[in-house]
Amino acid sequence: MDQSSMESTARAMVAPGKGILAADESTGTIEKRFKTAGIANTEENRRAYRELLFTTPGVEEFISGVILYDETIRQSTRDGRSMPEVLSSRGIIPGIKVDKGAKDMALFAGEKITEGLDGLRERLAEYRKLGARFTKWRAVITIGAGLPTATCLRANAEALARFAALSQEAALVPIVEPEVLMDGDHSLARCEEVTEATLGEVFRALARHRIVLEGMVLKPNMVVAGEQSPVKSDAKGVAEATVRCLRRCVPSAVPGIVFLSGGQTEIQATENLNAMNRGHHTPWQLSFSYGRALQASALGAWRGIATNLAAAQKAFYHRAQMNSLARYGQYRPELEKQAA
Ligand code: 13P
Repeated sequence: MDQSSMESTARAMVAPGKGILAADESTGTIEKRFKTAGIANTEENRRAYRELLFTTPGVEEFISGVILYDETIRQSTRDGRSMPEVLSSRGIIPGIKVDKGAKDMALFAGEKITEGLDGLRERLAEYRKLGARFTKWRAVITIGAGLPTATCLRANAEALARFAALSQEAALVPIVEPEVLMDGDHSLARCEEVTEATLGEVFRALARHRIVLEGMVLKPNMVVAGEQSPVKSDAKGVAEATVRCLRRCVPSAVPGIVFLSGGQTEIQATENLNAMNRGHHTPWQLSFSYGRALQASALGAWRGIATNLAAAQKAFYHRAQMNSLARYGQYRPELEKQAA
C-alpha cells in the first residue's frame, strides 16, 4: 500500500479554498434532477452535462476533485479525451462512487443498508486503471420513531469500514459518507444525537478495520433540524452543533471533512459552511462535497440547450467560488447579487 501518496491525495482533496464536486448521480438520480429542468435523460445529455461542468473555465481554482459515476468515468468529451483525463489535465483529482446504492434493510422496516462489497476489489483495480484516485461510499441513516436502530448503525458502519479498507489496499483514498437524512420533523438536537451515534459507530469500525485515518476523508451531513420541522435552523446554530458533534467524534488525524448538502438550498449550504469556518478553529479542514448545492443553478441555466452552455458554466463557476470563500469564512450574501 502506497501510504504517502494516499495521504498527499487526501490533503490535496481538502486543500485550502477548494472543495469537491459530487457529480456521481446514478442514472436514476440524474433523471430526477434533469426532470426539474425539463431535460431528457439520454446518455448523450448526461455526457454533455458532465462535460459542461468539468470544462468550466477557471473552476479548478475552487474544485480539488470530482466524484464520478461508473458511466461517466468511461465517457469522453466531444474532442475525444476521457473524463478523468480532462479533469487531471486541469489539476482536478478524479474520484468514483463505488457503492451500489442504499437498499431496504431486511427485517428492519424503514431502514437502509448500502450494498456493493461483492467484487469490489476487482472493480477498484479497474477504476484505478481508468484514472480514479479516490472512492466514495454512502450510507444512509433515517431518523424516525424508534429509528435509527443500533443494528442499522452498526451494519452500515461495518460496510463503510470494509469499503475503506479495500480502497486503501488499492491505494485509493476513501471518502467515508455516513448521511443522516434531513427527512422528517425532528429537531436539530435530535439530529445532533443521531449524528454523534452514527459517527461514533463509524470511527470504531474504521479502527477495527485498521484504516489509516490520514489517508481518508469524512463526508458527513451537517447537524440541521428536519426538513419538516417547524423550527428552522440558522447558520450559527447549525455551525455550533455541527462543530461540537464533529469534535466529539472525529480524530484529528483525519485531514478533512467535506459536507454533503443533502437537500439544503445552494445559499443555505454556503452560509452554513461559512459560519463553521468563520467562527471555529478545528483540527481538520472543513470543506464541501456538494451535489445539488453546486449544480442546481447551473442545471436550471442549461436546460439541455447548447446555446445556454456559457450561462450554465458561469452559474457553476459562481457557486464554486462562493463555497471557496466559505472555506475561509469570507462569504457575504451581497456577493450573490453582484453576480446576478
Ligand atoms: P448532495 O450534496 O446533493 O446531498 O449530494 C452529495 C452526495 O454525494 C450524496 O451522496
